[in-house]
Formats: sequence, C-alpha cells, structure tokens
Amino acid sequence: MSSEYIDLFYLISAVLFIVGLKQMASPRTALQGNMLGSAAMLIAIVVTLLDRRIVSFEVIIAGLVVGALVGAIMAYKTPVTAMPQVVAVFNGFGGGASALAVGAALEEALKGGFVESVDIQFTTAAVLSGIIGGVSLTGSGVAFGKLQGLISEKPLLFPGRHVVNIVLLAICIGLGGWLIADPTSSTPFWLLVGFSAVLGLLLVLPIGGADMPVVISLLNAYSGLAAAGHGWVLNNSVLIIAGSLVGAAGFILTAIMSKAMNRSLANVMFAGVGATSASQEEEDDIYAGRVKSASPDEVAMVLDGARRVVVAPGYGMAVAQAQYAVRDLTDALEKRGVEVEFAIHPVAGRMPGHMNVLLAEADIPYPQLKEMDEINPTFRQTDLVIVIGANDVVNPLARDADPSIPIAGMPILDVDQAQTVVVIKRSLSPGFAGIANPLFAADNTLMLFGDAKQMVTELTTAVNEL
Ligand code: TAP
Repeated sequence: MSSEYIDLFYLISAVLFIVGLKQMASPRTALQGNMLGSAAMLIAIVVTLLDRRIVSFEVIIAGLVVGALVGAIMAYKTPVTAMPQVVAVFNGFGGGASALAVGAALEEALKGGFVESVDIQFTTAAVLSGIIGGVSLTGSGVAFGKLQGLISEKPLLFPGRHVVNIVLLAICIGLGGWLIADPTSSTPFWLLVGFSAVLGLLLVLPIGGADMPVVISLLNAYSGLAAAGHGWVLNNSVLIIAGSLVGAAGFILTAIMSKAMNRSLANVMFAGVGATSASQEEEDDIYAGRVKSASPDEVAMVLDGARRVVVAPGYGMAVAQAQYAVRDLTDALEKRGVEVEFAIHPVAGRMPGHMNVLLAEADIPYPQLKEMDEINPTFRQTDLVIVIGANDVVNPLARDADPSIPIAGMPILDVDQAQTVVVIKRSLSPGFAGIANPLFAADNTLMLFGDAKQMVTELTTAVNEL
C-alpha cells in the first residue's frame, strides 16, 4: 500500500478514535463510542500490516490470535467489580510493550535495519518511552496486586523512599542523556528500562489500596505517553495520536478524581493515605452510647409513611453485590407510590462510575441516578435516606476545616440533613480513609447492621409485608 493511502486510513482511524472518545462521555452513546474505538483500532492494525515494511506475518498473526483469545477470556470472566485490576493489567502490558518495541526498533536501527536513522527525535522519544513504559509496567503490576489482594492494601512506607525515588529518576535521566549523546549502543536504553521498572515498584507500593483507581488512571495516561513516544520513534502518526488521546484522557480523569476527593495528586501519590486507622479512643468518643441499631422490620415501619426516599450507595454495595436486591427494594417502594432516587458521589466505591455501572447492571433507570450537586439540595425534603455500604462519602467530618483528617474538605453527600437516615453496614468499622463517622451516632440515624445484600433483601420482604 502506498504511503498516501496509509496516511489517509490513519487519518480516518484517528477521527474515529476522537469521535468514539467523545461518545464515551455519555452512558447513552458509550457503547457506540466503544465500537467506534474498536473499529478505529482494527483499521490502524490492518493498515499497518499492509505497510510494505512488514516482512513476516507469521509471528504477528500468532500474536493477534493469542492476544485476542486472552482478551476475550478475560472480558468474559472478569466481574464488573474487578474491572480496575483488569485495566491496570492492560495499562501495564501497554506500557511494557511500548518500551520493548522501542528497544527492538533501537536494536534494529543500530544494525542498520528498517529504521532510517537514529536521530535526536528517535533517541529522545525512545528515552521517554523507555522510562514511562518501565514505570507503568511495574507500577500497574503493583496496582493489580493490591486490588486483587495479592499484596497488602496498606501503604508500604519505608524511610527515605522519596530520596531513593529521586536518585532512581536521576539515574534514568542520566542514562537517557547517555543514549541521546552517544546513540551507538543499546546498553543505556535497557539499563534505563530496568531502573524505571524499579522506580515504578517503589512509587506505587507506598500508596493505599483505595487510591489505586487514581494511580491506575495516572498509569493509563503514562502508557498512552509511552505509546506516543513509540509513535515518534517509528514515525507512525496514528500511534502518536492514539497515544496522546490516551495520555490526555488519563490525565483528565486523574484530575477529576483528585478534585472529587479534594486532594492534590501529590497527596495521593506521596502522602501514604490509608496507613492509619481511627484509634479505639477516637471511635469511643464519637460512638459511645449514641449508636441506635434497628431491625429490617423497624426500618420498614419508618418507610411506611415515607413519600421520598434516597438511596446512597458506596463501596459496601459493590462488595456485597447488592445491586439486584436494591432494585427489588426500589420496585417494592415504587409500588407503594414512594419516589426513589439514587445519590451518586463521584468517588463512591473504588473506581470512577463504580455505582453507575452496578446500578445500570441491575436495570435501574439512568435518570433516577442523581449526581452529588443535583441531589444535595433535596436532602432536606427527603423522608428517609438509605445509606448502603457507603462511609467516607457521607462522613460529615469532611466539612470540618481540620486538615489532619484525610477527607478534610472533600465534598460529601449531605444525607444527614434528611429526616431519617438508615445506614446499612456490617459494623462500625471505618471506610477507606480510616476515620470514625459521626453520622452513625447522629440523632436521626438508625444503623441496620449486616451484609448489604442480606439486609436489603430482608428489608424488601418487610416492606412487602406492610
Ligand atoms: P468506604 O468509605 O470505603 O466505606 C465502605 C464501607 O462499606 C465500609 O465502612 C464497610 O463497613 C462497608 N462494607 C464493606 N463490605 C460490606 C458488605 N458486604 N455489606 C455492607 N457493608 C459493607 O466507601 P465509600 O463511602 O464508597 O467511599 C469510597 C472511598 O474510596 C473514599 O474514601 C474515596 O476517596 C476512596 N476512593 C475512591 C475512588 C473512586 S474513583 N471511587 C478512588 C480513590 C479513592 P463494614 O466493614 O462495617 O461493613
């Protein structure tokens, strides 16, 4: 295929990537956006395979078959709750693949192979791709391990880690400078990939498990940048465009998540949040003698007179897989003429859109899901809020100015303003931020202790028996 046609198809592919990404911004068009993105990738791959520089197809086809098989099996087998881990693995593979492919191009160029020249564009892009690819490979591996429970979720804090990281980064930059100044050997490149892989490990190990979604989004951005660097090395425009889109999307999502938690990215990356838990004394101060526990039957009685109910779901609903039970409860309440809405906090759960995905899976109509800014002014007119497995996102302490609290300043769902609040969780254990929650001891709160799925099911039975 001539280079003009290749460029034309690459342009079509790039436009499809951009339109697909735009469509993913709304749940109504997300599926179509996903399809467009896949079509764009297919065009890019096929056109690249038709490029005259491809000399042997056997290995490529074998790779495509194995990759497609592994991808399909993972997609079918992975439950929605394990999606962040899968994204982490894919990011890591993407970053690692970019670093390896750039290394292969460098080796080939040094042998006088298909790459025209090892100029400064080539070496600079190779250095960036190598460093970023190495960091995202091992960083994503640690993120996967933490979310999968293979490594402790707790931040692994070791003294002097910031200094060690700075030294490692300086070594990587030094090796990069060596390659750019003297592009006659691939040794500095492979050393640089090795050191950046160690850096990736040390950067992510000190971050708490619940911050992994932010880290994964950041590493996703990195893997995109590594791919863009790979595109500069190979002079491949579609790789540069697709990589930059992934990079930009990842950075934007990272910024949105950090903002929703009212934390800076530096705080997420370096503060080791999640290493401490509330002391027994602090918990006693807040809870002693004030927590009122209720049974499903008692809560059903409160629901009897309710006209407006808001459900505030959190991580515990995902753990218990209670979304179908929640749908049944919603149906039972709506049958009695109760207006039911869902309050969705932007960082409820453990990944962006976690609650939306689970509730959509249970066929809860999208218009019933209300974002925080929209639902907050309505809590005063709400008879009952049912908090299901949420903790930090409904913790009134976040409103306090005390900056020592990890969630200080984080905007929360103002559920405490409702007439009555029912909190479903198994115990008084803290959430991710590790702090006690005065909501559980508030005058208008009833605790329904137990597994979310079981309690919601029992509550539905009790409502149906009213
Ligand atoms: P959390 O504050 O983590 O609280 C979850 C609660 O669920 C726990 O207190 C736990 O209490 C309860 N729970 C666990 N398993 C349960 C089960 N089977 N049945 C009933 N309850 C169960 O959750 P949240 O309110 O959704 O807040 C999310 C946290 O993650 C925030 O701190 C947020 O900043 C952080 N975070 C989120 C994201 C994204 S993108 N979503 C990204 C980074 C960080 P018991 O053990 O007593 O049951």
